[in-house]
Amino acid sequence: MKISVIGAGNVGATCADVIAHKELCNELVLLDIKENFSEGKALDIWQTAPVNMYDTRIKGSTNDYSKTAGSEVVVITSGLPRKPGMSRDDLISTNANIVKTVTENVIKHSPNAIIIVVSNPLDVMTYCSYLTAKIDRSRVFGMAGILDTARYKAFLAEAINVSPKDIQAVLMGGHGDTMVPLPRYTTVGGIPVTELISKEKLDAIIERTKKGGGEIVNLLGTSAWYAPGAAAAQMVEAIVRDQKRVFPVCAWLTGEYGQKNVYLGVPVILGKNGIEKIIELQLNDDEKKLLNNSSIAVKEVMAVLDKMNLITA
Ligand code: NAI
Ligand code: 2OP
Repeated sequence: MKISVIGAGNVGATCADVIAHKELCNELVLLDIKENFSEGKALDIWQTAPVNMYDTRIKGSTNDYSKTAGSEVVVITSGLPRKPGMSRDDLISTNANIVKTVTENVIKHSPNAIIIVVSNPLDVMTYCSYLTAKIDRSRVFGMAGILDTARYKAFLAEAINVSPKDIQAVLMGGHGDTMVPLPRYTTVGGIPVTELISKEKLDAIIERTKKGGGEIVNLLGTSAWYAPGAAAAQMVEAIVRDQKRVFPVCAWLTGEYGQKNVYLGVPVILGKNGIEKIIELQLNDDEKKLLNNSSIAVKEVMAVLDKMNLITA
């Protein structure tokens, strides 16, 4: 079993590190365009194997995709991260060119791969990869929902003073300020969250979650990597171990939730075939409205990509 992670920066290297620790494959390839960068990161991670006691062989590659050949899962993290004052959407032009080139190379060498996109702006970069790869939607999807949900759960765990392990939640919509947290589907050890926290506090947590990426950018001067890397690795694990996990994933919708021709975060079942099922919740009118607003916002950025005429049919 071979897995490749494209982009050996903060998110890619963290994701590779978690994949190796969990022994999700025998061979892990970390590829970057920067000369010797992935080789150095891979060597450093590999030298943790005797300490952390795992067998996964991790190798670096400077833009040589032949090393990734036959990968079953590929995580795309290549691209620029967000800097202070920069919206995710500012990144579109630069990162679309990167994601397109990377996807072409990935598919050329690993035609059967399942592709997980992490690069921002997430929903639109996933669309870019899907248009380029020309493979079934079940095999091209994006990571954002697990991260956004993790932030929401972490804030709730602190506020209620409970273990984050006991919080179950789902967020939907795009990876941005229009994301749709669903308090109605949030429980703490089976108890509806609304019984454990006031509406004011919950609303404040929802707002903080929506701006969770920006909060870290403001603190660090670049975007987050520990939680994003771990979240992408969790998706890889669900696939390679055929776990049938239920996660919010950025998926191509063809009518689900009344949404068509758009990449949006929705709950799915993830297993060895990638997205095995999109779960359709019974949203109420307010939730439907929020999801629709999120879809409109994502489609506006998708239209920017379409206008670039980057990808031929
Ligand atoms: P980083 O700058 O640390 O790493 C990006 C790496 O991509 C660099 O090492 C760079 O050399 C490499 N790269 C650039 N062009 C390439 C190409 N054509 N082929 C191969 N490698 C290439 O950035 P970081 O922090 O790792 O973030 C990566 C991306 O993930 C950014 O777009 C960021 O906004 C996004 N992100 C998405 C999240 C999500 O929830 N979906 C969360 C956090 C970050
Ligand atoms: C995050 O949410 C910036 O998308 C990145 O941390």
